[in-house]
Amino acid sequence: MLSLNDTHPDHDRGTPASESTQTVSLTIDGVQVSAPAGTSVMRAAIDAGIPVPKLCATDSLEPFGSCRLCLVEIDGRRGTPASCTTPVEAGMSVRTQSPRLAKLRKGVMELYISDHPLDCLTCGANGDCELQDMAGAVGLREVRYGYAGKNHLDAPKDTSNPYFTFDASKCIVCNRCVRACEETQGTFALTISGRGFESHVSAGMDEPFMQSECVSCGACVSACPTATLQENTVIALGMPTRSVTTTCAYCGVGCGFKAEVRGEEVIRMTPWKDGKANEGHSCVKGRFAWGYATHPDRVTKPMIRAKITEPWREVSWDEAIAHAASEFKRLQASFGVNSIGGITSSRCTNEETYLVQKLVRAAFGNNNVDTCARVCHSPTGYGLGQTYGTSAGTQTFKSVAKADVILVIGANPSEAHPVFASRMKRRLRQGARLIVIDPRRIELVATAHVKADFHLQLRPGTNVAILTALAHVVVTEGLDDAAYTAERCDDKSVAQWREFVARPENSPEAFEAETGVPAALVRGAARLYATGRADGTAQTLAAAGRRPNGAIYYGLGVTEHSQGSTAVIGIANLAMITGNVGREGVGVNPLRGQNNVQGSCDMGSFPHELPGYRHIGGDAVRHQFDQAWGVTLQSEPGLRIPNMFDAALHGQFKGLYCQGEDIVQSDPDTQHVASALKAMECVVVQDIFLNETAKYAHVFLPGSSFLEKDGTFTNAERRISRVRKVMAPLSGVGDWEATVRLSNALGYPMAYTHPEQVMQEIAALTPTFAGVTYEKIDRLGSVQWPCNDATDEAGTAIMHVDHFVRGKGRFLITQYVPSDEKVTRKFPLLLTTGRILSQYNVGAQTRRTFNSQWHDEDRLEIHPHDALDRGIRHGDWVGITSRAGETVLRADVTERVQPGVVYTTFHFPESGANVITTDSSDWATNCPEYKVTAVQVMPVAQPSSWQRAYKDFDEDQRRFLADARLGAAAAVTGK
Ligand code: SF4
Ligand code: SF4
Ligand code: SF4
Ligand code: FES
Repeated sequence: MLSLNDTHPDHDRGTPASESTQTVSLTIDGVQVSAPAGTSVMRAAIDAGIPVPKLCATDSLEPFGSCRLCLVEIDGRRGTPASCTTPVEAGMSVRTQSPRLAKLRKGVMELYISDHPLDCLTCGANGDCELQDMAGAVGLREVRYGYAGKNHLDAPKDTSNPYFTFDASKCIVCNRCVRACEETQGTFALTISGRGFESHVSAGMDEPFMQSECVSCGACVSACPTATLQENTVIALGMPTRSVTTTCAYCGVGCGFKAEVRGEEVIRMTPWKDGKANEGHSCVKGRFAWGYATHPDRVTKPMIRAKITEPWREVSWDEAIAHAASEFKRLQASFGVNSIGGITSSRCTNEETYLVQKLVRAAFGNNNVDTCARVCHSPTGYGLGQTYGTSAGTQTFKSVAKADVILVIGANPSEAHPVFASRMKRRLRQGARLIVIDPRRIELVATAHVKADFHLQLRPGTNVAILTALAHVVVTEGLDDAAYTAERCDDKSVAQWREFVARPENSPEAFEAETGVPAALVRGAARLYATGRADGTAQTLAAAGRRPNGAIYYGLGVTEHSQGSTAVIGIANLAMITGNVGREGVGVNPLRGQNNVQGSCDMGSFPHELPGYRHIGGDAVRHQFDQAWGVTLQSEPGLRIPNMFDAALHGQFKGLYCQGEDIVQSDPDTQHVASALKAMECVVVQDIFLNETAKYAHVFLPGSSFLEKDGTFTNAERRISRVRKVMAPLSGVGDWEATVRLSNALGYPMAYTHPEQVMQEIAALTPTFAGVTYEKIDRLGSVQWPCNDATDEAGTAIMHVDHFVRGKGRFLITQYVPSDEKVTRKFPLLLTTGRILSQYNVGAQTRRTFNSQWHDEDRLEIHPHDALDRGIRHGDWVGITSRAGETVLRADVTERVQPGVVYTTFHFPESGANVITTDSSDWATNCPEYKVTAVQVMPVAQPSSWQRAYKDFDEDQRRFLADARLGAAAAVTGK
């Protein structure tokens, strides 16, 4: 139980910190105290170690002043003001304790307790209840009013949400949940309905939580001072006894969490208040969807088999590793050193990823290593590298709080980066302006108290045209920041690029037919981004001596195109021409998909780059690694993932080590990927489940969940945070240890005994990581690369402050080239794909949690006009055919998509979304063009032939796994 004086950093200080730089001095209980102007008396007191009782106040929310427990006396003021809503003033003299205050507080508590179930000893929150704490703090011993009066003790429970319960009988109507939903989450799902005694918390229109707008982020549960809103795991299992601070293993926001455990059992995950990416907030995935880690489907024993048509055989770790190593050696002896390769995982830690790429380069002796970033953000690496000199986002998430205009292109933060979306919406509610460029009407376009000024609903595949047209308006209407480009950018490239974008063929009018976006909207959006005003005339902020801060956020809707790299360059150009790089509130921010996709790229997972984005062809760098690793590295880049598949089909690529990546489900053209894997002789998959790729494997090495790991993840802000082990690996061997064992078995010795030693090696070999140590991360919470002697101790929050990493910023021409994926009479619709909040990526984790109650199948969104044309009704089965393949989904007839465009998610393997995506890819990086596939959609009565074949194959593979387990069990029991 926390004492009122607890000085732990997580301790609640009652009201938010003031950001004022002015200090005010006052006296509290005779103690001289200083606090920033705007601080509440409550916070000033608590910061000074003086306890103040409170119930409706919490430091993550604006003060509300309803419970009257925090009353104080202030010299010269009448009455007893609430300390949570009273700001400090110079010279103020405050008393927090007096007989009068004690009496008043006791009276308040008596009223609360007289209408509260007296079941503390059996309550799930016993020991973690502020009401209980406050009753003790005010010295309540008896309730004069008795308990027999009118009360709410029979109020019903709402158990509709699978993760938390709302027990109205325990509610003190403090409003914290309502404010959390509004201020922290931005969903506005809750209200206080009724008046006086009838006041009560209601979700939506007095509906069960699951039927309301609630997105199950858990902010209200965290904010509730009583057991009214309580995690079901706490109700079932009781309170945790210790906590371990770690990092969410879902998306690239990288939220910090406290894993609260008893023994090795996780009781709940609570968002970490000091986590800089999330500051105490979370989404449904990180907060609640961790049950997959102990799901019965976990495969915890190594397995081998000769052919994928044969059952698995459970073996010891030693046998599995020895078998994999001997197979890889055999293949290299027969087919050459380059006949095998590896794929690193963007879900694994930096240390694990580093080891896999080192294994490939040093033990396999080639550069055939790639990562799933190939299929998501490789164009970011290329585009930002070419223009700015480094392959990462420029800002912290917090920076959005200083943005005046926010441009979101090809990203859907509410679904894919929800905690960042909450931050963004907070800024938008404060008055920042919003431009959304997306083929779909995503939630941000019009949501609670947020409305986009412009929604440029472009045709899929035309990002480059829109970005160039925006730049055209900026340049031709004189809205650029000429002083910035003169000082910060390469003159020659500026001049060439200006001439290019100013051409009439690059105007919004010229592109209108191609993009489908009215030119006037493009002009308005360009003016708004550049000047803060949609008319582009009155530069409202010019009077304040500065241009508006324009911040761009983008996602896979930019990168996963045949011109993905060009679009990233277009974004970089647009930010530079308006002077929007190098300070808070601006910048270019790729929203990374998976938890450690930034880290896996940083760690040298691409075939052409060593850790820190240094080209393998650079002699000096390569020789540094030669020396450190005691090998002679190949100087030529190795194979990218699609090249590995092609080489396999040509009989030249025979073996693959794939750690924590489900290429069969996540890569385009599933049938092509499956054929490539079938053509290999030794596929080694390391994963926590028998995923789709593992069904084509010959060796299965059981992987570990993030709860079983020590290491680091790097989020989209370049923030490196610790992942800390909560429980031992279920298989007995950590992912990094398996890689070490494989390397040793291959004859290349690795002698690490802890992931920290791996980070020490990374820091020693990578200048941008030179200052990264576990000790520093433990002390500071996290660091952001670049982190070395030339930066602050915590690294670099904002990139390119005085100059670009490459010196002068470089503008590059963004010639629009229409995608080869064009609509035709045969394929008259464009399919685009995306994600949904409750599911994550290939769904292997979230499908094994209650999250499937929100989304249990992928559906095809189709506009009512297109549906009507085809006789399709909502919920009908429809066949979707592209030049790559065919699949069948149920139709969701909706105006979220425009006519001519259809959309689906890809979280369920049987949906076969990637059976229909094609081999079309980005010109610079081979990133697949997932976002544009020409398709036809027709009503059908049965699954596609691929789905029928998939079902049979899947059943066989499940049986092979079950047989292996049965066989092992029989061997143990002797039956
Ligand atoms: S549910 Fe909890 S947070 Fe909400 S009003 Fe009731 S006691 Fe307060
Ligand atoms: S869980 Fe989140 S979205 Fe749902 S009511 Fe609570 S705060 Fe609002
Ligand atoms: S999934 Fe992303 S936004 Fe949600 S808790 Fe995890 S890191 Fe945060
Ligand atoms: S804590 Fe100040 S009025 Fe409730």
